[in-house]
Amino acid sequence: MTQPGTSQHADDDDARILGSLGRIVGDRHVIADAAGRAGFDTDWRGMFAGRSLAVVAPADAAQLADVVRLCAARRLAIVPQGGNTGLCGGATPDTSGRQIVVTLRRMTGLRHLDPEDAVMICDAGVPLAAAQEHAADAGLLLPIAIASAGSATVGGAIATNAGGVNVLHYGSMRRCVMGVEAVLADGTVWSDLGGLHKDNTGFDLSALLAGSEGTLGIITAAALALAPRPSRHLTFLAGLPDLVRANAALAALRARTGEAITAWEVFSATSADLLHAEGPRLSLPLARPHPWYLLGEVSLFGPGDAREERAFEDLAAVLENAGIDDVTPAASGSQRQALWALREGITEAERAVGPSLKHDIAVRPSRIAALATHLADECRRLDPRLRVNIFGHMGDGNLHVNALPLVRDTALPVALAEAVTRMIHDATHAAGGSFSAEHGVGQLKRAEMRRYKDASALRVMQRIKTALDPDGVFNPGKVLP
Ligand code: FAD
Ligand code: MLT
Ligand code: ZN
Repeated sequence: MTQPGTSQHADDDDARILGSLGRIVGDRHVIADAAGRAGFDTDWRGMFAGRSLAVVAPADAAQLADVVRLCAARRLAIVPQGGNTGLCGGATPDTSGRQIVVTLRRMTGLRHLDPEDAVMICDAGVPLAAAQEHAADAGLLLPIAIASAGSATVGGAIATNAGGVNVLHYGSMRRCVMGVEAVLADGTVWSDLGGLHKDNTGFDLSALLAGSEGTLGIITAAALALAPRPSRHLTFLAGLPDLVRANAALAALRARTGEAITAWEVFSATSADLLHAEGPRLSLPLARPHPWYLLGEVSLFGPGDAREERAFEDLAAVLENAGIDDVTPAASGSQRQALWALREGITEAERAVGPSLKHDIAVRPSRIAALATHLADECRRLDPRLRVNIFGHMGDGNLHVNALPLVRDTALPVALAEAVTRMIHDATHAAGGSFSAEHGVGQLKRAEMRRYKDASALRVMQRIKTALDPDGVFNPGKVLP
């Protein structure tokens, strides 16, 4: 890629590039001034600050293909950006001033929604929450639930293979993807939007783009599989002395109930403290405080009071047998929402105290309780002052183990932060786990790729990257070490 220009010649060249981009997408959809770029050049947490040459907003795949061809010819890198809610800096440009941020914010159309086929085809810039509403209007469910859904986009969720609170039953975003349309590095618009439930005709490029974090192509649209919409939920919040009980109760409930257990989320007393002390200052509707909290949900389908009663009896018996006695069930839709507001408010409440050191680990579910206890103990051993905020997707074996700042609004000292991350990732790796269960790699975890990822897997990924993007136009400096 070209180096930052310092001369008049370079300024003229930049002006020519901006002019060419403006002729493709319209001048007002090319943002080159610092104030206009600010929200695109920095990530949601304020962890990464880049400096792009311009932010470009194409209206459709054809315009985007022209932008890609222009950038490839001028050897300018492209950083795709959806809602900019990613937690690993994948959508943030570097500081060279030579990268173009392509935002999908103008591509928000619903192209097709067929309840009979249970498929929705929409543009990649559609916010997840809007896509969920489209599905709901058709009596169906887009089963991906993340707290950032108001801003995160369909394309971003696919590019990061987003997880969330319903993975336990529905899987991550990749499982919803029946096919995508994408602009490839040579400007080809590649389309696989047939919405077929079955198609074994060769390699599955759509599945490959899911989780590629903008390094292999830019997703412009997707065909998404929709699920039946639950008619009722049994949602509860419970207090627990330890995480082992949460696992035991999940296993017992699975054995008893024929219904879908769609969420099995936990959070620690530290999360509860943050929820109470920060932001909307939420309190937990339980009799007493506990070391851990479990937010579980069973989804019911179709009518039938008897089935609901049975499912509720199963749930109550399981919690009682597991020794979980402080339980609040949601008696109405609004109570359900209030319980979910607790779980969904943790990330914002955590951000309010300053830059926490986040981790997103997964091991096999049977190992997660012991690992979480070990990691909390080891953090305290590294520095007894550390407050560790553990929460996440217990049913998937995926927890966020975050060290809060020692001093409000101040990052942890570098040496301590490095020691904490190394300890957490080493222990997770030793337990056969992943250092990034759902947030991806971006620029934050590239070094961890080299350290923990199998060398042969890295070689294959590098070959795929070279085959699809030989000149490194798409999101250089991300994912691959
Ligand atoms: P961006 O942040 O804009 O981009 C993310 C990555 O995808 C970047 O590498 C970018 O280059 C690439 N990209 C974006 N759009 C495209 C495209 N159209 N084509 C190709 N590449 C593209 N994540 C979870 O997995 N589970 C959670 O529970 C969860 N909860 C969250 C809660 C909060 C409050 C916040 C702030 C974030 C949360 N996240 C979660 C992280 C984040 O919301 C997801 O990763 C989301 O999928 C990112 O979507 P986005 O549109 O904002 O993508
Ligand atoms: C969550 O589980 O709430 C998300 O992954 C967000 C986070 O880790 O902060
Ligand atoms: Zn999560």
